[in-house]
Amino acid sequence: MRKKIVAGNWKMNKTLPEAIELVENILKANTSAEVYKIFIPPFPFIYPVSKAIEKTASHFFVGAQNLHDKESGAFTGETSLAALKSVGATYVLVGHSERRSYFNESAEFLKNKINTCIAGNITPIYCFGEMLAEREANKHFEIIEQQLNESVFHLSAEDIVKLVLAYEPVWAIGTGKTASPQQAQEVHQFIRTCLEKKYNKQIADSISILYGGSCNAQNAKELFSMPDIDGGLIGGASLKAEDFVTIINSFS
Ligand code: 13P
Repeated sequence: MRKKIVAGNWKMNKTLPEAIELVENILKANTSAEVYKIFIPPFPFIYPVSKAIEKTASHFFVGAQNLHDKESGAFTGETSLAALKSVGATYVLVGHSERRSYFNESAEFLKNKINTCIAGNITPIYCFGEMLAEREANKHFEIIEQQLNESVFHLSAEDIVKLVLAYEPVWAIGTGKTASPQQAQEVHQFIRTCLEKKYNKQIADSISILYGGSCNAQNAKELFSMPDIDGGLIGGASLKAEDFVTIINSFS
C-alpha cells in the first residue's frame, strides 16, 4: 500500500502568527487520519509549526522548502540538513521548479542534495516536470525521464524507496491551469514505468507520486481518484485552512 500524502508548500507566504493560525485551524478540523499531511512553511516557521503539531497523533509532519547539500560551513543564507532535523523537519523539497529556474539549481546540485537527504535520513520530495514549450513540442515524457535519470536514478534499490516524487508540470504551477486528471495520470503511469524499468515492479508500486500544479479544493477529488496519483503537493490552496482540509479529505 502506497502512502497517501497531501503536502502544503507555502512558498514565501505568511507571518508567524498567520502560520500558527493556519496550522491550528487545520488541526482543529476533521482530517482523514490515514493521509500523511505535511506543512512546508518558510524556514523561520518550521520550529513553531513542529511544536504546534507535536501532540497530534494523526500523521502531521513538517518539512522544508530547500536545503544545502553540504554538511556545514561558510554558505551564507543556506540551511543544512542537521539544522533542519534539529527543528523538527522530516521532509524536504528538492528540485522545485522555482528553485531550478530562479536560483539556477542544476541537476548535479539536486543529485547532491538527494544524496545528503538519504545519508542524513530525511525524506526528500523530488519535484520535476516539463515546461509549457516542452509539452507543446510533445517532449514531456523525454524531459521527465531525463530529470529522473539526472538526479535520482543513481540511487540503489534500497534508497530509491525512501523518496517521494512530485510531478509538477511548470505550466500548471500558480497559473490556475491544472493538468486534467487524464493528463496527470498518463504522466504518473509513465513515471511508474520508468521506475519499473530501472528497478522493478515492486519498487515502482511502492513509491508515492504526488501531483502538483493548481491542485485545489475543486479538482483534488478527481485527480486523487486516478490510480497512479497518490496525493498532491499544493501551493496556493494550502494557504487556506478550509481548502487544505477539503483537499486532505479528497481521497475516496
Ligand atoms: P500551486 O498549487 O499554487 O499551483 O503551486 C504548486 C506548487 O508549486 C507546489 O509546490
